Amino acid sequence: MSDSSTKINVMISQEELEEKIAQLGAKISREYEGREIILVCILKGSVFFTCSLAKHIEGDVRLEFMRCSSYGDEDTSSGRVNLLLDMDVDIKGKHVIVAEDIIDTGNTLSYLMKELSSREPASLKLVCLLDKPGRRTVNIKADYSCFTIPDKFVVGYGLDYAQKYRNLPYIGVIE
Ligand code: IMP
Ligand code: MG
Repeated sequence: MSDSSTKINVMISQEELEEKIAQLGAKISREYEGREIILVCILKGSVFFTCSLAKHIEGDVRLEFMRCSSYGDEDTSSGRVNLLLDMDVDIKGKHVIVAEDIIDTGNTLSYLMKELSSREPASLKLVCLLDKPGRRTVNIKADYSCFTIPDKFVVGYGLDYAQKYRNLPYIGVIE
């Protein structure tokens, strides 16, 4: 199938995404009033979500970036995750919010949240754009998820299929 013939059905429109993210930003602004937030973007998928969210948070936000890799499907289920890029700040005593694109099996975040928690932040929360609870193999729950979606492979707004479609401004399903 060539690129031009690939049809992508919109699951969540750009307007719906932006509205929900704005609401989350307002909620975070209220909860963290007067406190600096370290907002951690999990590359690459979370980059659109993190940028939109950051723009809706009033107050001091420091942006940091991390990147993990899992070993592909067989090994993800065993929970093996690699840290490819770490942030360059000591989060001890800081207020940290991790922004992730999607929680699927939960393996990536289970690893990451344990790792961050061991660095003794003053507080640690997890927000995600999408939650696919039907696929969960590890017990992990976001403090806030913008949308709960069915067990379908989605692309757009940062999420890829073989590194493609991240630039779509909406969340879609490849037909
Ligand atoms: P988990 O470790 O199984 O929770 O998977 C997390 C990662 O898998 C996410 O951060 C995404 O990069 C990727 N992923 C899971 N589901 C999807 C999807 O539907 N579309 C695109 N990427 C996905
Ligand atoms: Mg990801």
